Amino acid sequence: MANLGIANLDKNLEKELLAGLDQVEELLSSHIQGDYPLLIETSRHLVEAGGKRFRPLITLLASHFGKGQSSKVIAAAAVCELTHVATLYHDDVMDEAKLRRGVTSANSRWSNTVAILTGDYLFSKASDLLADLGPEAVRLQARTFERLVIGQIQETQGAKTGDDALNHYFQVVSDKTGSLVATSARLGALLSGADREMVETLTKFGEKIGIAFQLADDVIDITSDVVQSGKAPGTDLREGIPTLVTLQIINSKREDDQELKQTLLSPIPDEEISEVLSKLRNHQALKDARNYLHGLSRQAKELLIPLPLVPARSALESLCDSVIERTA
Ligand code: IPE
Ligand code: IPE
Ligand code: MG
Ligand code: MG
Repeated sequence: MANLGIANLDKNLEKELLAGLDQVEELLSSHIQGDYPLLIETSRHLVEAGGKRFRPLITLLASHFGKGQSSKVIAAAAVCELTHVATLYHDDVMDEAKLRRGVTSANSRWSNTVAILTGDYLFSKASDLLADLGPEAVRLQARTFERLVIGQIQETQGAKTGDDALNHYFQVVSDKTGSLVATSARLGALLSGADREMVETLTKFGEKIGIAFQLADDVIDITSDVVQSGKAPGTDLREGIPTLVTLQIINSKREDDQELKQTLLSPIPDEEISEVLSKLRNHQALKDARNYLHGLSRQAKELLIPLPLVPARSALESLCDSVIERTA
């Protein structure tokens, strides 16, 4: 199904997922209400601009290993999206990003202060919905958020001298992105009453596919244009944030990589971004990163083996392919 991005999706499951995602949209819309109109406007800005709704989709799919979609599962899916969008507001401040979801970022359109407060406001909205899902869900979200913040601050600080830069990168990716995707799956499984082993399996799967999702995002920062991704390419380069592709070159001993390596060791000025991007697009390190992504996708699929052979399992398997092949 084209708009869910899942190949060979079972027709009944497709119908349920589409209906569930509609309910998530309705809940997001009805829940972003309040007494201060500017915050409602700034909050709706990115929520209404679109986005893939990857985390809600994972929550809905995970619920099919239990009793399926319910109002609690829908609320959990909305909590995951609200948490995610809140982090996007903050992330764009940190990364000085001007575009998000094809629209002007909140920090550019209003200011850093407004973007930070809007992120905080969306966290308050997520917590409000969570309160109805019980203490286990509340604690899970709190701990997820803790990991997410640790991931973002570790990325900001960079690897310590003597630390392996690749290990540091993978730790950052797991914490800033794997954590919330794992929780999106876990909440769907928990709140639908899936048995404990399945809950654990789906959590591990979520973490793995979340890591693959972020690595694909880092590749997209190099390979996609703004029309495809809705974000400015080269943001990681501009901010001097090392990713899988650039780390391969930074670690390279090859003579013909040395000049590019020197360039990649510091933030790259705006006027040099397009030249560096075209070098990276033609570099072996990009092919290596794509191969690595295929490996991660295979590992994620293997994690699904203990699950029953229901349509949701095939859907999760297909999702492993689309996550690493995506261009947006
Ligand atoms: C962007 O997330 C930030 C990452 C963790 C990679 P998405 O790629 O899910 O962004 P939207 O929700 O579709 O805008
Ligand atoms: C975003 O990481 C991760 C979180 C929001 C926690 P990036 O900074 O790499 O994501 P994009 O590329 O801006 O979406
Ligand atoms: Mg960013
Ligand atoms: Mg960032």
